[in-house]
Order: sequence, then structure tokens, then C-alpha cells
Amino acid sequence: MLHNLFWSVFTALPSEFDFEGIDLCGITGIVSLGRNNIGEILVKCSRKLTYRGYDSVGVAAVFEGKVELRKDVGTVDAVDRLLGLSMMKGDRGIAQLRWATYGPPTKVNAQPHFGCDEAIYGAHNGNIHNYVEYRRELVETGHKVRSENDGELCVHAVDKYYEQTGDMFEAVRLSTRDLKGAFSFAVGRADAKEIYAVKMGSSLVAGVGNNETIASSDLPSVLPVTSNVIYLADGEMLRLTPDTVKVYRVSDGRELDRRPEITTVDIHTAEKGGYPHFMLKEINEQPKVVQDVMGVLQGSKSDRWLKLLEDASKLYLAACGSSYNAGVLGAYYFNRLAGVPLVTAIGGQFEQMYGHTLREDDLCLLVSQSGETKDILNVLNLVKQQQTGRTLGIVNVIGSTLMFNADSYIPMACGYEVSVPATKTYFSQTVILAYLATMLGERNGRLDRQEARRVIGMLSEQLPALAQETIDRTAIIAKNLASTLLGVKDLYCLGYGLTDGVAREGALKIKEICYNHCEGMYSSEFKHGPLSIVTKNYPVIFVTTAEDSWMVINHINEVKCRFGRTIIVGEKENTLEPYVDNATDYLVVPKADILLNPMLDVIPLQLLSYFLSVNLGIDPDLPRNLSKTLTVD
Ligand code: F6R
Repeated sequence: MLHNLFWSVFTALPSEFDFEGIDLCGITGIVSLGRNNIGEILVKCSRKLTYRGYDSVGVAAVFEGKVELRKDVGTVDAVDRLLGLSMMKGDRGIAQLRWATYGPPTKVNAQPHFGCDEAIYGAHNGNIHNYVEYRRELVETGHKVRSENDGELCVHAVDKYYEQTGDMFEAVRLSTRDLKGAFSFAVGRADAKEIYAVKMGSSLVAGVGNNETIASSDLPSVLPVTSNVIYLADGEMLRLTPDTVKVYRVSDGRELDRRPEITTVDIHTAEKGGYPHFMLKEINEQPKVVQDVMGVLQGSKSDRWLKLLEDASKLYLAACGSSYNAGVLGAYYFNRLAGVPLVTAIGGQFEQMYGHTLREDDLCLLVSQSGETKDILNVLNLVKQQQTGRTLGIVNVIGSTLMFNADSYIPMACGYEVSVPATKTYFSQTVILAYLATMLGERNGRLDRQEARRVIGMLSEQLPALAQETIDRTAIIAKNLASTLLGVKDLYCLGYGLTDGVAREGALKIKEICYNHCEGMYSSEFKHGPLSIVTKNYPVIFVTTAEDSWMVINHINEVKCRFGRTIIVGEKENTLEPYVDNATDYLVVPKADILLNPMLDVIPLQLLSYFLSVNLGIDPDLPRNLSKTLTVD
């Protein structure tokens, strides 16, 4: 059943999806001297790459001059249990973990692959964009291409040039001329005690250990073998022998002077990329996430998603926690950019609030990082059982129930989010919703083409740099501000207009990882009751855009004149300055278009909650009582 679902979801992947710019899958190649249990070490390293894909896993192990290939659908551990990957004998080999893009996740599409015969074996990471034409060319020239997977083309490209040159080094080097896209691959020959790897846009790290060398997709997966590592640049290739890693320039084959260096990052912290916590790492990944998700939205033929939106007579959005807060911002974008209401509900609230009003031609956006949140699956089931409407998932975890069962899904393209508090996935969700609102606005005539292009251009070209600038500018201020809030147990975080969802998100972060009561609220509502809590120095955070600050100033005044402490998040404005007591009370984000401003505003709030949590001696990655994925009602 699962298999059929997988098939139906992925059958059309090559034509419908184009994940440009995303680094998918993981590869590891190891060459050793004297080892005869290559499977064990390849599995150990591959486990570190699990976050990159778990649609299928395979190992090609070379034992006594013969390549044994074992591969199947599932996670490393599942396929290991099934096929005994870690028992595979040999002194060299290549392993691959796949996140399906070209070709559904089946055994035949699993990597590694053989070339025409079983002499050349290899696997890739990334996407080969000229897949269709190149596959046709290979088949027409007699290559035995067995799968629909683009990784197989890398192996055949090497095979093709090996036939012509009889030289593996040249074959690998020349093969990169045929292959278009962003990728890396590792390849070997049964009769040669070496493995080659190339880096052409996707990640690759090498390591020189004791009588063994490795090339793998990231640093953590190299560390089970060695801390003696070589970082590579695009356009470089490697020759691994048991005791050396040589680096060459792909363009002319010239050897480069690249010596290994000992990394101080240990095997556990490596996964945090040197950051003390996953949360801080994930906050810092947000600029890259924007690039990746915009690659998905633009590179893929998002027509299908837009058609679902366009054809719907009414749009709903259901989500929980941070995903809901992103949805709140999304509703403002839909109103403003598409002129269409997006009716937004908390997952658990949906049935009772809107369940009876759903119609067949309605569309329900289901936003969930995990794709497993029970409250959201309840909405999914409700819509399916009642046959009222269609569903469009916005989901991060590939292979999740939401991904399989929604009528269609948009991947958040964030990679693995380890820390329990959502940060980069919230960010990606807001980008996706802004994109969809803009494109829908263009289609329904609310925006002219030029304005729609301007917004899309800002999202893809300006937002990554602005997000980075926001991190750089506000991190220290947020850290200092956090140290002044140590004794605070109770506060408010208020937003207005586009910053409504942002303030809720800031409050949720502070609640979740600082164990403080922090209420996120609409700032004009504060005077309708909660204002009575304000006494001398009671802290209230105001999140504002330049467009709304004239109004928010009224709300700030209401707190200030009661001697409360006001903290402001927004662009630098002279009119706001009198309302801050000191430099740390003004978290200034870079000047940006009004549509980008709320996206930037969330960053200092994430940082503030992070530093406050750490100062309070809490592990922000693992707040008490919580779990990353909530599969219960
Ligand atoms: C807060 C947080 C949670 C999740 C919520 C929904 O930082 O992470 O509030 O946002 O549990 O989870 P997903 O998005 O997986 O449905």
C-alpha cells in the first residue's frame, strides 16, 4: 500500500518537480588497506547522513575484485536489517542514501548503480538537469540504462569515457562535461584499488585516516573514519587510495596542493556544525533555506499547486504552533497580494469551526513541519472522508503521512530540523505562503505581472542577504537584552497587521524554551483588558513594520505612560526611538520592503528566546515536556 502511494506520488517526479538548488541524498566512498568489513564502516558513516534521505539505501562493496551490490527501499537501519549491508565484505566501496527526485523510490532506482556491465559502480548526490536528453543519448548509443534515476547517468558517463580512453582518471574528468546540474558523485572499478569522486555543486568532504580514506557528503559522516579532513571546492575531483587523497582540477586535470587538516570538531558537535545548539545552527541556516525553497518554488512547475489554489472557491489553512503562526502571516499575504481570504484555523479547532461549512471545491492548506501532527492528520482525514475539498500539504519531512496523503504537497526544503523549537521551517513556510499569494495574485489579476515579478525577485534575491544581515546585526543585541530579562517570568509580545503572526511566534518561542509566560497578542487588543497587568518595568515587546508604526506608537504609549518597559523590534525609525530605554531595547532589523519586513522581524525574537533560554540554564534544543513530532490528539 505504502509502496503504491509512493509510486503515485513520485511517478511523475522528473517532469513535475525540479528541485534546483537543493542538495539531496548522501554518498560515501571508502578505500582501505587490510579491512575486509567495508559494509560495517559504510553503514556507520551513512547513518550520519540519514537526514539527507531515507527513501532508499544501497552499498556497493568490492571483495576480491568483484562488486557486490545490495540496495532497497527504506532507511539505513531498515535496509541493513533486510539485506545485511553492514555484513558486506570488502576493502572498498560506495554507499548512498536517496531522497527521491528522478524516478520513484524503488529498488531499481536505489543507488549505487552499475555501468553497462558490473565493472564500474557509483552513486551521486544532487540533480542532473539534462537527464532526459542525456539518458536518450546514452540509450541510443547502446548503454544499458536500467533505472529512471539520474544518478545512474553519472556512472554511464564514466563508463562511456572509459571505453574511449581506457583510463579511469580521464573518464571521470571528461564525464563531467556531459552532465549538467549541481551534483557530486563517487565511482570506482571492480579491478582498481581506488575510488574517484567529483564535486560539481553539491557538497563533498574528504578524509585521510589510518590506512583508509573517505569522501562523503558532509563532515559528520567523515568523522567515524578520521578527523584529518580536506574541504573541496566545486570543479574539483578526488582520487582515493588507501593512504592518500589527491585533489585535481576537473577542467584540466592539474593536481592541486590540498593537504588534510585536523578538524577540532568532534563527532557529536559536528552535526551542529560547530554551533553550541541545533537551534542556533538552524536560525543561521535561514538565509540558505530561503534560497533552497525559492529554488523549489521556481524551479519546479508550481503550476499544479497554483491551479489547486486558483480552482478553489474558498481557501482554508490548518496548522499548529509555529506552523499556525506562519499561517497567520500567510493570511495577511493572501489578503494583500491575492485579494483572497485565507481562512486560518488551529488544527484542533478546524473541524468544529469549519468542518460543516467545507464544500467540494474548497482547498485546505495543511502546514506541518513533521507532516505527522495528529491534529493536522485529523483535518486531512476529515476532508478526505467527507469528500469536501482538496488538500495541499506544506511539509518538511519527506516520507511523512501528510506528504503521502495530501492531494499535492510543497516541500519546505529545510533539511532536517533537529531542535524541538521550529525556526527555519517557520521561515520557509512564510516564504512559501508569500510566494503562493503573489502568484495567485498575478493569476487572478490582483497584481500586474511586473509587480508580481518584483515580489518574487525580492524573495529570491534580496531576502537571503537581508536575513543574514538581520542575524549579524541583532545577535549581540538580543544576547545583551536576554541578560536583562533573566528575572522576568511574565511578559507580552504584541504585533499589528503583518506582524500579528510574528509576535505570536516570538511569544511561543519564549514560552517554549524559557518556561516564561509570554502572551502573543494583537497590539490594539492589549488595552481591552491585559493592560491592567502593566506596572513599573513590566516588559512588553512590540513588533512592528514601518507601515504600521504610526498606529503601534499609540499602543506603545499606553504601556510607556504606565511606566512599563517597552522593547521594540522593527526598522530604525526616529519616531520609535523615544520609546526605548536603552540600546538593547531596540532590536533593529535592516530596511526592507514591507512584505519582507515581518519575515526579518522574527529573527531577533528567535535569537532573544535562544539566548534567554541558554542564560537560564535550559537546553533550547530539548525543552521539557515536548517532542518534535506530536502524533497524539
Ligand atoms: C514550536 C513548535 C511547535 C510546532 C507544532 C506543529 O516551536 O515547534 O509549536 O510548530 O507542534 O508541528 P508541525 O509543524 O510538525 O505540525
